[in-house]
Amino acid sequence: MIYLDHAATTPLHPRAREAMLPFLGGEFGNPSGLYAVGRAAQAAVDDARQLVAGCLGARPSEVIFTSGGTESINTALLGMAYAMRRAGAGNHVITTAIEHHAGLHVAQHLEELGFDLTYIGVDASGRIRLEEVEAALRPETVLASVMLANNEVGTLQPVAEIAALLRAYAQARHHRVLLHTDAVQAPGWLPLDVNALGVDALSLSAHKFGGPKGSGVLFLRRATPFRPLLHGGGQEMQKRAGTENVAGIAGTAVALEAASTGIAERAARVRALRELLRDGIIATTPGAQPNGCQVNCLPNNLNIAFDDVESDVLVSGLDAAGVAASSGSACSNSTWEPSHVLMAMGVPIRRAVGSVRFSLGESTTREEIEAVVALIPAEVERARAASLVAGRLAG
Ligand SMILES: Cc1ncc(COP(=O)(O)O)c(C=O)c1O
Repeated sequence: MIYLDHAATTPLHPRAREAMLPFLGGEFGNPSGLYAVGRAAQAAVDDARQLVAGCLGARPSEVIFTSGGTESINTALLGMAYAMRRAGAGNHVITTAIEHHAGLHVAQHLEELGFDLTYIGVDASGRIRLEEVEAALRPETVLASVMLANNEVGTLQPVAEIAALLRAYAQARHHRVLLHTDAVQAPGWLPLDVNALGVDALSLSAHKFGGPKGSGVLFLRRATPFRPLLHGGGQEMQKRAGTENVAGIAGTAVALEAASTGIAERAARVRALRELLRDGIIATTPGAQPNGCQVNCLPNNLNIAFDDVESDVLVSGLDAAGVAASSGSACSNSTWEPSHVLMAMGVPIRRAVGSVRFSLGESTTREEIEAVVALIPAEVERARAASLVAGRLAG
């Protein structure tokens, strides 16, 4: 198999697996236990917290372990918005139209809870404009949440610039607006320093960077107004109740450390492969066009629209040929639900439904990319012939 779906999940890093194994065996203690196996588990969680904090430029006390990106994002948005509203600071939240559903659906839930939401749109490259964030700010704004890198098209957002804007706004108006970023797609590809980014909260999901599934990180800056989402025991500094996933936490920390090492070299190598894939497909396949910004983007993410193709048909054909890629649209009961990200970018619907995401990984080779380029034209032809719905759209 040629695996080009690293934005969906990544294989477990061998060092992460090794770090986890003791806690899936003899070291089974509960970190709250006051005896030896409990203390060993607590020490592992403490060490992991230290390691993660070091990778992010954070203090260990600002690192909360969660069950994944989705929980981190839910915890950050609900916990911060709710605390700010309770403090009487306001009830307006700003986010973008291209967040992952883990952010977008929480925003919609906040609306059900009586918050007022502004969804900032994007340009054709998938990027928001700083002026639109500025224009959306109001005296009741309490929180902004903007993803660092988009999972479908890879476009980077100006998060550090938004942080600077919010700092200036706070100084001028004596009104603080908290900032969260969904950085789930960033580790391994972009340097992550919470102070350089200037965010109050940042979410990560371990399985996107060689860690285990069901494990995540929430960075929450010291003294940020916050109410926990999960209530129960006092774990995670009273911010996330529940017995710790010790093995997951140990694997997460080691994977993040590995992902945080050698970023520039990895990014340059994989970006060159991404360009080889993009240019090869465009040169050999009529009606193929990349979606999103090609410069200010993740080095490993390539989203391509194929005219007159149903992406699900093409992805199935590629699967049969031994290539794993991802379709950005879902067809249910003959109704198309094109990607909300491509729609927000203004991609025409007939191209949006024929868009496929190839996401490369650290282990992707030149030979693999050349093999994919060689089989794409025939697979696209086959998919075109089979894509009855797309054919109707085209006609
Ligand atoms: C940008 C982004 N945010 C959040 C998530 C949710 O992460 P998880 O499914 O691991 O909870 C994903 C997963 O695809 C993602 O790509």
